[in-house]
This record gives sequence, structure tokens and C-alpha cells, in this order.
Amino acid sequence: MTLFERLDELYAIGGGPGANRPHGSREEDEAHELAAGWMREAGLEVEVDGAGNLVGHAVARADVWVGSHLDSVPQGGRFDGALGVVAGIEAVARVGSGSVVAFRGEEVGCVGSRALCGGGDKLPSAFLELHVEQGPVLATACAPLGVVTGIVGYARGELVVEGRAGHAGTTPMDGRDDALVAAAGEILRIRDVAAGIDGAVATVGQLTVEPGGTNVIPGRVRYSVDARAPDEERLAELIAAIGFEPSSPTGPAPMSPELRSILREEIEGRVLPAVELPSGAGHDAGILASAGVPSAMLFVRSLNGGVSHSPDELSSEEDVALAVEVLTAALRRIAE
Ligand code: GLV
Ligand code: MN
Ligand code: MN
Repeated sequence: MTLFERLDELYAIGGGPGANRPHGSREEDEAHELAAGWMREAGLEVEVDGAGNLVGHAVARADVWVGSHLDSVPQGGRFDGALGVVAGIEAVARVGSGSVVAFRGEEVGCVGSRALCGGGDKLPSAFLELHVEQGPVLATACAPLGVVTGIVGYARGELVVEGRAGHAGTTPMDGRDDALVAAAGEILRIRDVAAGIDGAVATVGQLTVEPGGTNVIPGRVRYSVDARAPDEERLAELIAAIGFEPSSPTGPAPMSPELRSILREEIEGRVLPAVELPSGAGHDAGILASAGVPSAMLFVRSLNGGVSHSPDELSSEEDVALAVEVLTAALRRIAE
């Protein structure tokens, strides 16, 4: 079975449109069962840890890990996370050493990798994560592959706006305290705050409007905030300016200089440009790096303008094949 056929099989779980394997769902479990079967077929010894992370070990150097995650956002793409797992199975099988991991719940705050790092088990001695770029930088540079310098810091939380529920037909416009109208103003302010800090971004992606009737003035609105910035200072400035309590802030995570060099050398050895770029998306590699595990990430060019977290997410078979070659060669150097 080819790597792209495996991606298709994972993508079909849950029936579409898009990938629908949210953390904790039957669909995430099904993806882990599929991947466990592929790991066994590759001759790996399969283990599931207390957090549900799936790890396939080769007989040698099982302390060197490659991999990613199998959960997805709602209506996500074919490649995000899944590519790193199926490519990791292939790399470990080709090299005959190392381990491949499928982490749980990356999209909801790296649940699985955080559990691993906080759980007292022995951590890997190195971690490589292959992932789609999820942005346009590599396509613009005409480069199939890139090496990540570091992963952005991010913080997530919830804010609530209180208003006064009332009758949509009988309450005059000047007598209203509409919580959704107030939240709309706050959301515009959050956009402007992020735009005013270099390299920062902020997103409101979920709104819960109460009581939620078409003919009822909204009385309360809860909304999510996802805020990101390239360094601790700017992340702290952004959080303070938005005015929310992050549930589990994740600091920016630089990637290992030694592992980055290995990836760069393997890319340059194939007469390709070795573009270095930061990651604006969070990744399990950031959690491992922050726990002291030397970690690095190899990015594959995203097509379709770099769109991700969408069924339109796309990378080419040629680029993915190159990425698997580079991952395999890097793993061979680290784990032999
Ligand atoms: C993970 O995809 C993230 O939200 O950065
Ligand atoms: Mn991902
Ligand atoms: Mn994602």
C-alpha cells in the first residue's frame, strides 16, 4: 500500500467532507487502530502508553523517535499530522531502527505529547517530525522542503460577554444590552491588537450564543481566543492587551541546532534549497523540545496557496517522496 493510499484511508474515516477525527472520538481511535496495523505489518513492536499515544518500536535504537499526530480539526485536510505518522512508519521500516509515534489530541493543545513529557516515563533521546508547512513560504521560494527554526508560542482561553436577554420584536434598539453586538466589538478589537504587534496573530474560532433563539436578544456570549507570537515578550504583550487568562500557555520552542544541521545537509545533498523558516502552527515537536528532548521539524511544501485546516490542504506526491527520503536519511544518521 502506498503512502498516499494510507493517507486516503485515514481521510475516509468519519465520512467527510474533510478529515473529522477530533480528539477523544471513535474516529481518532479508528485512525490509531489502522496505524497500529501498519506498524505491525512493518515488523514494529506496538505499544500504547497511558495517554493513548501509539508507538511502534524497531529492534534497535528505539530511543530515537519520529512521528506526529492522527487527530484532526473539524473538516480538516488530508496531510496535517497524518503525513508525519505514515512517513514515520516508512522511515523506521526502511532504516530498521528508531520508533514512530502517533500522538493523541495535538489539535486541542498537544494532549498526548504533554502527557508523555509530564508523565515520568523515559523520554526519547531525539524527535523528528515531518509535517506539511501549512503556509505559502516554501511554495513562494520554489522549495519542496524546509527546516523549522522554532515553533511559535501560543495561548488559548475563553472570554465571556454578559448582556440582557429580551424580546427581539418588542425591545427598541436603544433599550438593548445585546451581548453578541458587544462581543462583535471585542472581536474586532482583538484583531486590531494582534495586527499592532509584529509577528503576532489572534483568532476567535468558536462562539456560543445564549440563549440561542432567533427571536431572542443574546444575553451571554462565550468565545474562544487563540493568540500566538514569535517570542515570550510579544506573547505576554498580546495576552495582556487582549485581556484573557490562558489555560495552558506554550512558550516558543527553538529546534535543536544539531538536528537542524542534519536535515539541512540531507536537503542540500539532494541539490535542493534548504530554506529555514519558523512555524506559526503549534506541534508536538514544540512540547518535546520544551521538555528538553532535542527535536527538529522537516516541512513539506503546501500547495493551493498554503491552505491548511481545510479539505483543500494539498502537497504533491513528488515533494512528499523527497521528504520521506530526507527523513529516512536523517533517522539513519541519528539512530544507527
Ligand atoms: C495546530 O494545528 C495549531 O493549532 O497550531
Ligand atoms: Mn499538525
Ligand atoms: Mn493542525
